[in-house]
Amino acid sequence: MPRGKGAEELLVAVDLGTNKVCVVVAEMGIGSTPQVVGVGSVPSRGIKKGVIVNMEEATNCVRQACEEARRMSNCSFDRVLLTSSALDVGCVFNRGMISLGKDARRVTQDDVKRVVEVAGSVPIPTDRFLVHVLPKEFLVDGQGGIDNPLGMSAVRLEVEVQVITALASSVKNVISAVEGAGLSVEGFLLKPVASAYAVLGHQERYLGTAVVDVGAGTTGVAVFHQGTLRYVSLVPLGGDHITNDIACVLRVPLPSAEELKVRWAVAHQDFVDEDAEIEISMPGSRKSRVVTRRELSEIVSFRLEEIMGMVSEEISKSGVDMLPGGVVVTGGCAMLPYVDEFASELLGVSVRVGYPVGVGGLSDILMQPVYSSAVGLLKASVEVPEALVLGGGGLGSSPRRQVQANRGPSAWSRLKDFVLSILRDFF
Ligand SMILES: Nc1ncnc2c1ncn2[C@@H]1O[C@H](COP(=O)(O)OP(=O)(O)O)[C@@H](O)[C@H]1O
Ligand SMILES: [Mg+2]
Repeated sequence: MPRGKGAEELLVAVDLGTNKVCVVVAEMGIGSTPQVVGVGSVPSRGIKKGVIVNMEEATNCVRQACEEARRMSNCSFDRVLLTSSALDVGCVFNRGMISLGKDARRVTQDDVKRVVEVAGSVPIPTDRFLVHVLPKEFLVDGQGGIDNPLGMSAVRLEVEVQVITALASSVKNVISAVEGAGLSVEGFLLKPVASAYAVLGHQERYLGTAVVDVGAGTTGVAVFHQGTLRYVSLVPLGGDHITNDIACVLRVPLPSAEELKVRWAVAHQDFVDEDAEIEISMPGSRKSRVVTRRELSEIVSFRLEEIMGMVSEEISKSGVDMLPGGVVVTGGCAMLPYVDEFASELLGVSVRVGYPVGVGGLSDILMQPVYSSAVGLLKASVEVPEALVLGGGGLGSSPRRQVQANRGPSAWSRLKDFVLSILRDFF
């Protein structure tokens, strides 16, 4: 029997990855920590480099992952939040201003929402899709540097925002793949941004830290500074390219190459503490070959070096000169032993591996870097619901508030608004 929870009490995150489609169901109780009650994860089909290449297969994966999550959670749901990579991410800066009347009065939540809407109304070319409008800084009567103007007295409120767009077809197709499984998508967040909310602490977001999410087909980069997302980008390389290299160099099928990588490889041959000879059986032959861990890790290191080179270029483009918080590597490839040390040598900053934290319930299942984006999506929907806007509608309104607006405010929604008003000092 389904528990029959109301949609407003559940948060459901769908991570449409190149490696796996993962669905996480969480209940929101008292407090702002999502309590995980179910997880479904199936290997991806029909998705390459984060982009849909076969709609039917991708939709079937979403359906299967949802079924698993429904069975485990014993909950029914049809409204979800979505995270995915998208091609060709770009950002533009814009400013918006609203008048609060002739006499100074206190800034309300509605004013904040309205000014962000105004600033986000930039003309978007038809082949682009608006994914996020992120407030960078508020100005109250011309005085800048304000993180959160709520409750301040003013006659004029301004905001500087970062408008993030992506190639329309790549975002619309991932949404269609999810809708095809009978779900409605209430909010969207790019993968590296979602992951950042799972692995970064508040301090790191203020100090200046880059999150590098190395998935199967793409590597996402999200740079945070002074509590705000400053830059987001996707590099079209990931763990699948490493596997491919192993398959080509050693002339083995892809599944064997994947197994060799996950079981034996480390990020660079110099980190191999105990070299070992690995016997590889050759397809269609009784003969086998031998490769050492050092040789295998050398193949891995070349591609990792290329990926980190591209990551470094993206970090430079962010305009954040210093990263006192360093780099946090997450996503499946963060599980390669010594990836943090090797990345630190290549990037010249401190690097740590980011494990997802900050959810309760069945959180043990999710404590792996492969689940960072799904966990981060849940956390972001509570901490920064404004960031989860969808291009077509409702700038600045949170997906969960949309649900509640349909049903009238509950005690929980009033409590959540109160909690959010405290948390809103992120922006
Ligand atoms: N233990 C491991 N060691 C090395 N690579 C791993 C390990 N586990 C997963 N990976 C790699 O991580 C990638 C998948 O990461 P994931 O974050 O799940 O991808 P996506 O988010 O794109 O679906 C694959 O290339 C996989 O080979
Ligand atoms: Mg991932």
